[in-house]
Amino acid sequence: MKACSFVSHPSLLIILIVSCLGVEVRAQLTTDFYATSCPTVFTVVRREVIKALMNEMRMGASLLRLHFHDCFVNGCDGSVLLDGSNSEKLAFPNRNSARGFDVVDAIKTAVENACSGTVSCADILAIAARDSVVLSGGPAWQVLVGRRDGLVANQSGANSGLPAPTDPINTIIAKFNAVGLDTTDVVSLSGGHTIGRARCATFTNRLFNFSGTGAADPTMDSTMASELQTLCRGGDGNATTVLDHNSADVFDNHYFINLLNQKGVLSSDQGLFSSDEGVAATKALVQTYSSNGNQFLKDFVTSIIKMGNIRPLTGSSGEIRKNCRVVN
Ligand code: HEM
Ligand SMILES: *[C@@H]1O[C@H](CO)[C@@H](O)[C@H](O)[C@H]1NC(C)=O
Ligand SMILES: *[C@@H]1O[C@H](CO)[C@@H](O)[C@H](O)[C@H]1NC(C)=O
Ligand SMILES: *[C@@H]1O[C@H](CO)[C@@H](O)[C@H](O)[C@H]1NC(C)=O
Repeated sequence: MKACSFVSHPSLLIILIVSCLGVEVRAQLTTDFYATSCPTVFTVVRREVIKALMNEMRMGASLLRLHFHDCFVNGCDGSVLLDGSNSEKLAFPNRNSARGFDVVDAIKTAVENACSGTVSCADILAIAARDSVVLSGGPAWQVLVGRRDGLVANQSGANSGLPAPTDPINTIIAKFNAVGLDTTDVVSLSGGHTIGRARCATFTNRLFNFSGTGAADPTMDSTMASELQTLCRGGDGNATTVLDHNSADVFDNHYFINLLNQKGVLSSDQGLFSSDEGVAATKALVQTYSSNGNQFLKDFVTSIIKMGNIRPLTGSSGEIRKNCRVVN
């Protein structure tokens, strides 16, 4: 408002107050942000994601997860892509786990070749996540774009802000609430685990001596528990299993049907249905999504658009990175 303080004439005041308020309104993301500056961006990203999925179908899951891990730390600003000593890649939820960075580099190169210095790495993650869902057989939506890239990585923010698979459901809900997402978003977005894989290190706590009981987690199907014990026993924690045993690479509601049958892989998955810490709301949503796949797909789209709107940098904040791994 400082720039307006010279105004003394009352008739000008109204007009200037309105325009000064306008300055303070946060710029919104839109679907047509690149309509003139980079009209081919969606085609170029789609082509690169297709290439990556033809090489390895799981890459769709890895790209979807990167968008999530980006948005929960300093907002959707491409911070997860930065290398360096404070890199979020070294935070516990990402170390030996987050993948797809080379694919993001390839997409960025292709986008730069089409329209140099125009499209942010944060937007590339949002578009690639959408394309990954669509190419895995999931719902389509129009991606809101216009994000700019952040100037810092936040390793401690990644450690504290991203949910851990061993977090109680109430802690997970609190971490979602902290970025403006609600309980419905927790359950619908957990449905992202309809594709992709998890390492033994992330669920081994459930297999051998759950909570000091000397046995597997009683909320894990016993056949599945013995299969996973065989997979994980004596290994280095890097062996992987599919997160959705019915349809590993297909984006559908089988993840929720699995939870009804105690076949969730992570404690944070099964807990949505089985934990007894007062999360009746998550249990009811799991039941709804397990019987109504369209409701899941519809809610997932609403929630991922919300997630993509977490504290974006717009206007002249941040920058358009030339290389997603380093600030300009
Ligand atoms: C609700 C809290 C969540 C927790 C505790 C959680 C935790 C995890 C863990 C531990 C893994 C396996 C990582 C590894 O083995 O290295 C994983 C994988 C994955 N997560 Fe989540 N996640 C959550 C929410 C989400 C959300 C919101 C999405 C996206 C909408 C998502 C998408 C994925 C995908 C697609 C994979 C598979 C990645 C791959 O195969 O490369 N997750 N998650
Ligand atoms: C890192 O994230 C934490 C938690 O959200 C936040 O309080 C802090 O300001 C962030 N630091 C930087 C440098 O962005
Ligand atoms: C299981 O954990 C408990 C508590 O940490 C421990 O006392 C017990 O020895 C463990 N049992 C086995 C079989 O490792
Ligand atoms: C898993 O794989 C990573 C990367 O290849 C390796 O550095 C690590 O030592 C392995 N073991 C564990 C327990 O993470």
